Amino acid sequence: MDIKTKNFHQKHDSRGTLTFLEGERDVPFAIKRIYYIYGVHPEERRGFHAHKRLQQYLICVHGKCSVMLDNGLGQRDHVVLEDPNAGLYVGPGVWCEMYGFSADAVLLVLASEYYDEADYIRDYDTFTTYVNGGRTL
Ligand code: TYD
Repeated sequence: MDIKTKNFHQKHDSRGTLTFLEGERDVPFAIKRIYYIYGVHPEERRGFHAHKRLQQYLICVHGKCSVMLDNGLGQRDHVVLEDPNAGLYVGPGVWCEMYGFSADAVLLVLASEYYDEADYIRDYDTFTTYVNGGRTL
């Protein structure tokens, strides 16, 4: 699977570090929404869904978490996010699960669309059928 991670711009000086990114420049979409996830128990897993159209960048701006990506075609990858300067791209048609949250983890997500429950695929069998063009594996 094509895992796209990216390091954003950083400005270091004696006061510390500033990271910045711009929609349609540093991420391939206009940012319509941001949300962030924190206070997740280390044993908890979140996500368990894919999207039909939504594009997202995941940035663990504090602490650490892991992401499992599944393309529904038999390929799975795991990515550890622990660098506040690094983003993981998650495009449409990718099943995503987040796990291994440190107690201090804050996972920031930049999203290309407003929240729309109709864009979610929350059932794994429906997802594999969807990415296989409606055919059941
Ligand atoms: P959920 O999709 O379960 O979170 P996760 O991405 O960790 O699987 O979302 C939790 C709740 O928050 C659910 O009721 C939907 C709601 N929600 C919004 O209202 N707006 C949003 O932008 C997001 C991401 C979720």
